[in-house]
Amino acid sequence: MHYRTATEEDAPRLLRLYKAVSRVRDGIARLEHEVTEEYIHEILHNSLSRGLMVVAEHPDDPNELVADMHGYTMGLEIFKHLITDVTVCVHPDFQGRKIGRTILTIYLDEIVRNRPEIGKVELIAREGNLRAIHLYQSVGFRIEGRLEMRIRMADGTYEADIPMGWQNPSFEFDMP
Ligand SMILES: CC(C)(COP(=O)(O)OP(=O)(O)OC[C@H]1O[C@@H](n2cnc3c(N)ncnc32)[C@H](O)[C@@H]1OP(=O)(O)O)[C@@H](O)C(=O)NCCC(=O)NCCS
Repeated sequence: MHYRTATEEDAPRLLRLYKAVSRVRDGIARLEHEVTEEYIHEILHNSLSRGLMVVAEHPDDPNELVADMHGYTMGLEIFKHLITDVTVCVHPDFQGRKIGRTILTIYLDEIVRNRPEIGKVELIAREGNLRAIHLYQSVGFRIEGRLEMRIRMADGTYEADIPMGWQNPSFEFDMP
């Protein structure tokens, strides 16, 4: 498996990956019709210009991606030490093979080594997505609260969202 940072050329590959992931219920927040070219353009542009996107290539076909982790800063001065809006996803055919754990490890390692200006990475996981929550905790994220009744499930019930944060041990505070 080849892991690398994303480029502009990954847009169509990301579109195919996110459509495949969205077809399985209770994973990422978007339904398939909400995974649009505009959405992909936005996450790719934001991640390349003010964040970080790491992808995993299909082992037999470099023109396909099997996983993505991305996030970016919000563009406001007071939040410039935060990578937020983070999403991690692995193609359904490749889940449960340690790709999620590996891409998280590579992503956080890149921040520790080369992004001293980033103090914190934030993400939000649905309370019922225990696989994702346990995975995030195991690489150092901590639960920071609970946002009640945030997710409307397909059966009409509601679930809480769980905000989680990871702090960069190499963060260099820029003092005024
Ligand atoms: C959640 C997700 C990113 C995890 O990636 P993955 O490659 O499938 O997971 P990994 O193989 O790296 O396993 C990580 C941990 O998840 C758990 N896990 C993996 N497969 C599991 C399964 N089928 N059932 C329960 N737990 C499982 C294991 O505890 C594993 O821990 P371990 O490494 O100590 O054994 C991936 O399944 C995914 O993309 N799911 C759909 C989208 C989604 O939910 N994204 C997160 C939104 S917050």
